[in-house]
Amino acid sequence: MKIGNITLESPVILAPMSGVTDMPFRKLVKKFGTGLVVSEMIASQEMLRASTKTQKMATPCEDENPIAVQLAGTDPEIMAEAAKMNEARGADIIDINMGCPVKKVVKSYAGSALMRNEKLAGEIMQAVKKAVSVPVTVKMRLGWDEESLNAVTLAKMAEDAGLSCVTIHGRTRNQMYGGHANWAAIAPIKQAVSIPVIGNGDINTLEDVDQMRTQSGVDGVMIGRGAYGRPWFLKQVMDYLNDGSITEPPSLEEQRDIVLEHYQAMLAHYGEHVGVRHARKHLGWYCKGLKDATHFRNEIMKLATPQEVTQKIHDFYTANIERKVA
Ligand SMILES: Cc1cc2nc3c(=O)[nH]c(=O)nc-3n(C[C@H](O)[C@H](O)[C@H](O)COP(=O)(O)O)c2cc1C
Repeated sequence: MKIGNITLESPVILAPMSGVTDMPFRKLVKKFGTGLVVSEMIASQEMLRASTKTQKMATPCEDENPIAVQLAGTDPEIMAEAAKMNEARGADIIDINMGCPVKKVVKSYAGSALMRNEKLAGEIMQAVKKAVSVPVTVKMRLGWDEESLNAVTLAKMAEDAGLSCVTIHGRTRNQMYGGHANWAAIAPIKQAVSIPVIGNGDINTLEDVDQMRTQSGVDGVMIGRGAYGRPWFLKQVMDYLNDGSITEPPSLEEQRDIVLEHYQAMLAHYGEHVGVRHARKHLGWYCKGLKDATHFRNEIMKLATPQEVTQKIHDFYTANIERKVA
């Protein structure tokens, strides 16, 4: 699959997720294997203000190439400027956020609120496209609500503006994250444009990948929460799409080492104080389904030093490994 002039190794993409797909997580997913990773949503005006936090969030590194940096905002000029800055900083693709449903974002008419203002959405797509030479893509939902399913219109506008790819999350804004993504509802969008269309929403198993592709006909799949605690899942999907093979998840010993590596990377990226707290949600996802996971999760919440947490991770996995052997 190609996005503009960029050939992806595989049509499997890690979804942008604020607070989750930071550099340590993207690098980990990329290390296993994935066609593309996308940054957390970057507020365009914060980018121009050169906020340290935002700049750090938007910093791509070579290990994750190709990387798409996702921008959110409502002002075409600011979005265009922010896109230029990110291109100069090494982004391979600029993605425009037209899908975020969160109140704080839509209140300022950004994210999925842009789907309600097609004129402005069009101006933003054109301005960003004109500003950069790297491919520009857009991620959106099916529409604002059931009465305004306008993803076909917006996808055509994206194609006319010269964008290289459209990602559709099969829900409306008003659904937020409730119910199940409607994969069949993505089909009309795929049929309406000739640029690649990526399907997103509720892909958690290889069977889901089949269903998404059969029902929608999309060119690629984007996976978000399905990668929680399973950074290897996208590689499993890649292998499956490549030749139908079913790749086993890593052994518990390997998982322990992956968790420890990820933990160290988060501490290095955020510093100890923030890193210890930020890591808790990932640790909570990693332990899902293992023995005494609830107890482990509760204990982790109370521990304040990396040394204590590292020891706890060792103990937890050792107990699970011994249990498996016994
Ligand atoms: C914690 C979280 C943060 C998210 N942040 C973003 C974001 O920054 N930009 C974006 O376009 N979508 C964001 N999303 C939406 C996801 O990219 C994706 O569309 C959604 O989770 C559905 O896919 P999934 O079922 O595979 O998770 C976020 C979702 C979650 C759960």
